[in-house]
Amino acid sequence: KDPYTLAGEAAAALRAAAGLDLSDAAFDVAFVMGSGWVPAADAIGETVREIPFTDLPGFRAPAVAGHGGKIRVVRTAAGRHALIFLGRTHLYESPSGLGVDAVVHGVRTAAAAGVRTLVLTNAAGGLRPETQNVGDPVLISDHINLTGANPITGTTFIDLTEVYSRRLRALVREIDPTLAEGVYVAFRGPTYETPAEIRMLRTLGGDMIGMSTVLEAIAAREANLDVLGISLVTNPGAGLSGEPLNHEEVLEVGRATAARMGVLLAKVVDRL
Ligand code: 6GU
Repeated sequence: KDPYTLAGEAAAALRAAAGLDLSDAAFDVAFVMGSGWVPAADAIGETVREIPFTDLPGFRAPAVAGHGGKIRVVRTAAGRHALIFLGRTHLYESPSGLGVDAVVHGVRTAAAAGVRTLVLTNAAGGLRPETQNVGDPVLISDHINLTGANPITGTTFIDLTEVYSRRLRALVREIDPTLAEGVYVAFRGPTYETPAEIRMLRTLGGDMIGMSTVLEAIAAREANLDVLGISLVTNPGAGLSGEPLNHEEVLEVGRATAARMGVLLAKVVDRL
């Protein structure tokens, strides 16, 4: 079955499971919450329902601790409806299963469910410790896709001049003028990078490094969604601090910054 048909089926199941009368009001926005961002979801609105990924066609439970595994349907203070993906599938979980199609299935499902705006969040290594602090959120201005993968196959040539909406970035910076912007680089993972790779990425113009987001952003642009991306810098890249990296540290920093991020995201939704 082709991935777009599967996403259409998942969207139909999701709309039914959401239990809302959405006949004249589709979901307005979807969020993908990366490591450490799950607690921020609580501030976005009132939970209407939670649907386990495994209840919907084409989804699988996330493989990694701290990555959730359900879709929360939320009503915001201003009466908007949001889908919040608590957890995502990463490319490094493949080649078993559906590969890159599994990574972007949530985005395609959200698009098929009527979403027009997608907020992608992640935890990332910082490539610029001179100007970044651990715990800083950074708006993604652009990306460098070094995963070796692409969700688009065939001969569809999609413009990526403005993957991360200039308008949405300006909106967020109106709410919080202290936010920096940066270029997010994605490797496939699941290993963190070597110090030599981190030096290479700095030379290439990267500001953050992670293992997600870029494939979802590409799939979102294919579906003509407006994309907002935000990285939470959880640690400096290897070799920049003298400390080894570990996943627990990444999750812990997220917990500490989640409240601030939740408040920010709630304001963003109601001003979309
Ligand atoms: Cl340093 N690298 C990658 N690839 N992902 C990360 C990270 C680093 N820190 C948090 N996530």
